[in-house]
Amino acid sequence: MSMRYFGNCPAGEVHELTLSNGRGLEAKLLTLGAVIRSMNVWDEAGRKRDVVLGYDTAEEYFSGDSYFGAAVGRFCNRIAGAAFDLDGKHYELPANEGKNQLHGGPGGFSYQIWTPLPVSESEARLRLYSPDGDMGFPGNLSAEVTYRLTEDSLVIEYKAETDAPTVLNLTNHSYFNLAGHASGSIGQHRLWLNADRYTPADEALIPTGEIRPVTGSLLDYTREKPLEEALAAAEFGRTHGLDHNFVLSGDVDVPAARLTEPDGRLSMEVYTDRPAVQVYTAGGLGPVSGKEGAVYEEHQGICLETQDFPDAVHHENFPSAVLRPGEAWHSRTVYRFQGISQIRRRRAKLLWV
Ligand code: BGC
Repeated sequence: MSMRYFGNCPAGEVHELTLSNGRGLEAKLLTLGAVIRSMNVWDEAGRKRDVVLGYDTAEEYFSGDSYFGAAVGRFCNRIAGAAFDLDGKHYELPANEGKNQLHGGPGGFSYQIWTPLPVSESEARLRLYSPDGDMGFPGNLSAEVTYRLTEDSLVIEYKAETDAPTVLNLTNHSYFNLAGHASGSIGQHRLWLNADRYTPADEALIPTGEIRPVTGSLLDYTREKPLEEALAAAEFGRTHGLDHNFVLSGDVDVPAARLTEPDGRLSMEVYTDRPAVQVYTAGGLGPVSGKEGAVYEEHQGICLETQDFPDAVHHENFPSAVLRPGEAWHSRTVYRFQGISQIRRRRAKLLWV
């Protein structure tokens, strides 16, 4: 792993870490927000392509509200009314989306400097200490994220511990465009999800509490289909496409999602131990200046944010997102990249068996 000075922003000095697996996969990370700034993947012709959106400067990461590649916490997605009760105590949080809190609040984990701990060429760990009362949340919390490149994957592992009861929901907010970060709309990307239910939400994207089957709706991705239908759908007018929490099957050994780029030459599988994934097709994005002169507009990336359920603190029928002292919080998400030859080889193997 190599490290270089990247720039300054109001949160402090920001460094960039480079990970490589020695076989073509390369990831660049930032100490600000534990951001994944670039993810270079081989394509069939042996060309590198950077498949995540990002900015060129630390200042843009700090002042932007897109959460490009960022670690999001303490509580990703929304907490209704920016308040919750836990063990009989009431906690008020700073609101940053109307009266609700989004992605851990205005100074959440994505806007803080994490401490880098180099591990190897292909692995880095970043730590964050979040004091009691940070963005209104109780408990001194130590959080750690490890990024590791394996032969064909980027593995993200979170760990956290607290000294008082708190709530926690950590994700990564990378915007993927498998054709390359500056390639325009993801409408022709195809998506498959291992999710037969979702959590309907109100106008402010707060879950109603219902858990509804996707069958017969536009949200049925149990059969792979292009994203363009959802991007244009009138019923998703409020979010300009997908911005939905899908309930995953819960099987950690099978993919939770598969995304395939238009010419089918590169695909990405997502594996996770989280119960849900927020699929966000960037309906609220841009126009905004991105890396290397790119200008990103809506629908130019897709986030597959593995997570606990949004607003879980207000819904007893949702899996609990409470973390207590003595418990070791751990989560794992894998983004696995496959070029066409690997996909063909695997299919051929399956046919032979
Ligand atoms: C949310 C969107 C939001 C986006 C950027 C996603 O996780 O679900 O509603 O606009 O993040 O903040």
